[in-house]
Amino acid sequence: MTKELICFDRACRERYAITDVLYNCSKCGGLLEAVYGEPAQPAAELKTLWRSRRLSNAPLDQSGVWRYREFVPFMDDFSGAVTLREGNTPLLPGRLAAQYGGLDAITFKHQGFNPTGSFKDNGMTCGVAQALRLGMTRVACVSTGNTSASMAAYASAAGLQPVIFIPHGNIAFGKLAQALEYGAKTIQVEANFDQILALVRQLAGRLGIYLLNSINPFRIEGQKTIMAEMMDQRDWQVPDWVVLPGGNLGNISAFGKGLREMRELGLIAKLPRLAVIQAEGAAPFYELMRGPDRSRLHPVEHPQTLATAIKIGDPVSWPKALLELTVSDGVVEKVSEQEIADAKAVIGRCGIGCEPASAATLAGIRKLTSAGVIAPHADVVAILTGNVLKDADYIHQYHTGVLRAPNGTLVLPSFGNPPTVLPNSADEIANFLGR
Ligand code: F0G
Repeated sequence: MTKELICFDRACRERYAITDVLYNCSKCGGLLEAVYGEPAQPAAELKTLWRSRRLSNAPLDQSGVWRYREFVPFMDDFSGAVTLREGNTPLLPGRLAAQYGGLDAITFKHQGFNPTGSFKDNGMTCGVAQALRLGMTRVACVSTGNTSASMAAYASAAGLQPVIFIPHGNIAFGKLAQALEYGAKTIQVEANFDQILALVRQLAGRLGIYLLNSINPFRIEGQKTIMAEMMDQRDWQVPDWVVLPGGNLGNISAFGKGLREMRELGLIAKLPRLAVIQAEGAAPFYELMRGPDRSRLHPVEHPQTLATAIKIGDPVSWPKALLELTVSDGVVEKVSEQEIADAKAVIGRCGIGCEPASAATLAGIRKLTSAGVIAPHADVVAILTGNVLKDADYIHQYHTGVLRAPNGTLVLPSFGNPPTVLPNSADEIANFLGR
């Protein structure tokens, strides 16, 4: 089967070997994507094969990424891939969340159930497999936290040296802690995500370090399997909507590519509509889609949001995201700090929980249903991108009523559930609990 890297820019389409160490097209600077020939098996056989692997004890079959390896066939031999049993994330209903979002029902696909607690693991196992195949010894990324936690784990598991760059003081502590624990060389730079990404792209070439940001096309391949697994779990019934938060816009690019390829392979009959939700203070893609001219994205120079995972002003994958929203008749919405915080608490009350960026989905759904864009009876899958424990400070501050938005405004604890301090007295505690 042919496999190559191709420039994403429709006017260029320059081709490269799948083993070239490239992050952008050498000819026009465009983004790259992996493209393959036809798989050997027809769609029905692939579905049966993938389902049968759920009964297997082979490590690659137990992975929610490599189980679908015919869908990400960038290597001939997958046996060297390192898996922490990524993917395998559940579809969960949330009654309260549906009600809050203006829907009859909602399904969360919770990527926070991944080994390092975010959807980045789906992409990282593929990125690290490619790094190993290329003979790399060091890998690097700039991150708002989750990519670095994931890369640190997968690189260390594979015997590679992880080097991570993070915006100083701007990532959730749980994520920084993971990177340290997994043994990453951790560099905190006094700049924002977009500035550090530009810096690291220079350094990667100079130091011969393999870059594992979502600009890396193999990360995108791995994240496609989130949609393959979702469809497999739904017995290939396509939802009306898939809703996800947008930061650097790698995930929407992966979902869109994955869904289009599934349709081309005959695995699904139609595409769901995609909805990307951004935080108000970091919403350059929202502005692009709402504005008259979609030929150029205007970066937000100083992005601001407490949802630090999506605090990105200059998303590199915007051309891919633009195509995916156009093809899927998708939409983009933006939500405030208060809306994110309240939606997050409601997801928590469903017994599910997630990190702030993930809750942008439900906040966005609430806005889109009240605007009549999403119908109340629609079949909606919302992607929860990160685990509730990633940002514990945020949770405690919200429930105790001291959470402040970046502009200093207090975020009201509309669904606050503060702890109560009581003396060591059975009577007083019984009294408090109302006997
Ligand atoms: N949700 C979470 C929890 C994230 O960590 C990210 C991105 C996103 C949503 C947005 O995804 O960038 O593909 O649009 N986090 C990156 C990181 C940027 O460095 O961990 P995107």
